[in-house]
Amino acid sequence: MKRRIKKIAVMTSGGDAPGMNAAIRAVVRTCVYYRIECVGIFRGYQGLIEGDIEPMNARSVSHIVQKGGTILKSARSSEFRTEEGRKKAYENFKKYNIDALVVIGGDGSFTGGVVFNKEYNVPIIGIPGTIDNDIYGTSHTIGYDTALNTAMEAIDKIRDTASSHKRLFFVEVMGRDAGFIALNAGIGAGAEEILIPEEDLGLDRMLESLKRSRRSGKSSSIVVVAEGDKSGKNVYELANYVEQNMPEYDIRVSILGHIQRGGSPSCFDRVLASRLGVRAVELLIDGESNLMVGLNNDVITTTSLEKAIKGQCVVNKELIRVSDIVTV
Ligand code: F6P
Repeated sequence: MKRRIKKIAVMTSGGDAPGMNAAIRAVVRTCVYYRIECVGIFRGYQGLIEGDIEPMNARSVSHIVQKGGTILKSARSSEFRTEEGRKKAYENFKKYNIDALVVIGGDGSFTGGVVFNKEYNVPIIGIPGTIDNDIYGTSHTIGYDTALNTAMEAIDKIRDTASSHKRLFFVEVMGRDAGFIALNAGIGAGAEEILIPEEDLGLDRMLESLKRSRRSGKSSSIVVVAEGDKSGKNVYELANYVEQNMPEYDIRVSILGHIQRGGSPSCFDRVLASRLGVRAVELLIDGESNLMVGLNNDVITTTSLEKAIKGQCVVNKELIRVSDIVTV
């Protein structure tokens, strides 16, 4: 029998991403629209364990659609990974009369949700929010588009100084296990080489390609490296390796880091977050649970949370070929 949903809790969990605020706003206001109570849980699962929970209304989320970060704060909770921690979380769930949970985050956050649902039968809907775009079941995660443009604009700026000084730059972008930011920002900024975790280019091939670029008249070059690239070397070691083999090049390293996680969300991320937030609440009202909402061919779709966690999210290999062709 369907349980009537009277109160929904929303949280952001894991690494923050631009657009999370727009998603929170959409969840809260959809609750208001359907006359359902809404509470915000601060600092993700850790806040649920500690009872860091506040009522939310339409005005609690005024003027946040354009803001980066998350007004609900975020955390990676190791305590929630323990049975004891989840028991405390459930006690607060009951204490605050919460009927269902919307979790905005990445696969670690969804894994926590699946376990919580199995143990306590708590209805949960996941909204994919991570700059990495590495979630199966959606073409875009909230924050990815903004991070991509932040990375591309930063690389554009590095290009200016690289070409002024005729230097070779290694630019590290985020993406522990995924090359979406590296590949797309790299193509957008015209990087000569792009190293991603999904494809081992091989150091010799990279070197050969940089030498070819040099012979063809390029006086400066940019190599974009995803954090988790498979060369077995970090960005400084890569730069050293090339320096030893191409002493004619003046080489610099730049790590973009957390700048990619901040900033005002792009219009795409705001609209995506709004659509996903509305659908998440409507699914809970319809008695659904254990689903992730996502975007596919501009349609909002659902995928089971378990599949979203386990499914393999692949980069489009055609982009590698495109990059090779357009940067000769
Ligand atoms: O998952 C998002 C992400 O920004 C990754 O790209 C990066 O590897 C990681 O989070 C960094 O996490 P933290 O902010 O906890 O160091």
